[in-house]
This record gives sequence, C-alpha cells and structure tokens, in this order.
Amino acid sequence: MTLTCLEKVSLIALAAIGLRILLRVSVFVWKKLIAPSFGFGIDVRTQGKWAVVTGATDGIGRAYAEAFAEKGLDVVLVSRSLEKLEEVASEMKQRYGVEVQVVAADLTEGQAAFAKIAKATEGLEIAVVVNNAGASYEHPDLFINVTEECLAKILQLNVAAITGVARALLPQMFERKKGVLINMSSALAIIPAPYLAGYAASKAFIVKLSQDLAAEAEPRGVTVQCVIPGVVATKMSKIKKATWMAPTPEKFVESALKTIGLESCTTGYPPHLLVVAVALTLRCICEKGAVWLISRTMCTIRKRALDKKAREANVKPEPPLSVE
Ligand SMILES: NC(=O)c1ccc[n+]([C@@H]2O[C@H](COP(=O)([O-])OP(=O)(O)OC[C@H]3O[C@@H](n4cnc5c(N)ncnc54)[C@H](OP(=O)(O)O)[C@@H]3O)[C@@H](O)[C@H]2O)c1
Repeated sequence: MTLTCLEKVSLIALAAIGLRILLRVSVFVWKKLIAPSFGFGIDVRTQGKWAVVTGATDGIGRAYAEAFAEKGLDVVLVSRSLEKLEEVASEMKQRYGVEVQVVAADLTEGQAAFAKIAKATEGLEIAVVVNNAGASYEHPDLFINVTEECLAKILQLNVAAITGVARALLPQMFERKKGVLINMSSALAIIPAPYLAGYAASKAFIVKLSQDLAAEAEPRGVTVQCVIPGVVATKMSKIKKATWMAPTPEKFVESALKTIGLESCTTGYPPHLLVVAVALTLRCICEKGAVWLISRTMCTIRKRALDKKAREANVKPEPPLSVE
C-alpha cells in the first residue's frame, strides 16, 4: 500500500504529537512519583551547615525547622515572640542535639527586620532558607470588608518580607554557588480565589518572583523552589483535626522535602496536586462554573466562621453573602 503525500505528513505529525505526549507523561511521572519516592531530589545536607526558617515557631515553618534539625542541620529560627522562639529552640536542641539560634523579628517591620536576619546569619554556611512567614484573612470575605490593616499586613509579609529575606540571604548562596531557597506561596495563587482576593494575589506575587529568581539562581548553583500548598492543619487554617486532604504540617513537610531540586513549583503534597488539577480542569471546561463553586465554598466557610464568632460573643450572627 502506498501512502499519499498528505497521509505521510499526517502520520509524521501524529507520531510527533504522540511522542510529545509520551515525553510529557514520562517527565510528569518521574518528577511527581518516581524521583521523590527514590530520593533523587537535593539532599540539603550537601548544600551547607545551616537552615534558616521564618515563621519557625508554629505550623509549616516549625515542621520544616524540625525536619532539618532531624537531618543534622543547625537551625536559625525567626519569628516575633522571643519566648516562643526560646522554648522551641530548647526543645530542638534537646531532641536533635543540633545548634539552634533565634532571631526575634517582626517581618512586617521591613528593612530593619531583614537587616537583623542578615546580621544574625553573617558567616554561617546556609544550606537552605525557608521564606515561610505569611499572613491571611481571618476568614474568607468580600474584599471591601477586609480591614486596611489586615491587607497591609498581608502585603508586608507575603510580598515585602518574602522579597526582603530573599534579597538579604541569597548573596552568600550565590557567592558559595550552593544553597536552596524555598518560598512559601499557596495553591490559591494559581486557582480562582474569590473572597480571599488580597491573600491570593499576594501569593501569586511569590510564584512569579520565585520563577524568575529560579532562572537567575540555577546557573549560579542555587536552587529556588516555590511551594503552593492546599490546606494544612495549622493555626492559620484553623483546622484542628488533620485529614488526608488537610495533613499535619509534619506530614506535609515530609512530602514537600522530597521535591527539592526536582520541582521548581510544587504543591509539595500529592493530594493537593489533585485539588489544583480538579480546580484548573473545571476552570478550563467552564470558568464561570468553577468560580461559582469556589465562591460558594468560600461563603460557606465565611458563614461558619462568623456564626462561631457570634456564638462565642453571644450576639446575632451576620447575614450570609449570596453567590449568584
Ligand atoms: N496552613 C495552610 O493551610 C496554608 C496553606 C497554604 C499556604 N500556607 C502558607 O504557609 C505559611 C505558614 O503558614 P502556617 O499555617 O504554618 O502559619 P501558622 O501556623 O499561623 O504559623 C505562623 C508562624 O509565623 C510566625 N509569624 C507570624 N507573623 C509573623 C511576623 N510578622 N514576623 C515574623 N514571624 C511571624 C508565627 O510566630 P509568631 O506569632 O511568634 O511571630 C508562627 O511561627 C504562610 O505563608 C501561609 O500563607 C498555609
């Protein structure tokens, strides 16, 4: 059987598309399943002696700090409360036998706080920095209901502090041609997030900053990773009981650590990848439907939070928001 010229071209095009799909699927399976499971990521211990973690006394930050200490890295803990910092530092020294330094700094204070961290870490061989401290709404709400103070704090922590801490600590990594910078964003940065608009937009800034920093850092031997988690059971999410979808910070970090050096932007935890994939697929199929569904979920969370507040204060709850 002889093929016409058009049939030959079509066959080649089909083969090329098939090969590209196969390649993409293979890379996906390698990055998401095989490489993390077999520990092909970067071992932070090869990058230096110290880990620096902001927002290190609670939640995800504390879990990162403990995971690094367990690996034998010395740790610099950064957060506001000196009392909490000293308590966590003493527990970690006892449990892991590593050196722990603390820096009490309010990262909303900007330059002064970044300089304090830079000074405290001068001369330390930093293997990894987790730029983790962040702020969010108290609960989902209409943008115009969120106080100006709350929005300012979100921008100071999620935008200015992430940038400032990276600027303060990257130079010594570039100089040593080694190190890992992990910037904590959120899955809400890449999926529709009505009723958390200010928070989600600030987290989208972190994704963009990390992508471009990663490109600058890679040829200089430094790895920049952006983590975009779904819900993790911490004080910020107000989820007390962990589930498969909302893991404990320890479980989340155990999974996220396996992706360092493999993924420059990762949810860090496979079930969160599923949530993002479902939201993005829905948006692809029907954008309005996806936005409506997420808006409804946010308004339900808002109503629950406000009802709880009203019960505690023994007052009448606020009326719910309607989603058209
Ligand atoms: N939990 C989630 O579901 C979730 C999901 C996606 C992304 N994230 C992101 O993950 C990061 C950590 O969240 P988390 O849930 O682990 O929070 P968390 O449990 O509330 O812990 C916050 C930590 O940050 C410190 N901190 C707060 N404000 C600070 C400031 N102004 N300066 C310095 N340190 C400060 C706190 O200590 P002090 O109060 O003593 O300062 C504490 O150690 C955030 O960037 C968040 O946006 C969380």
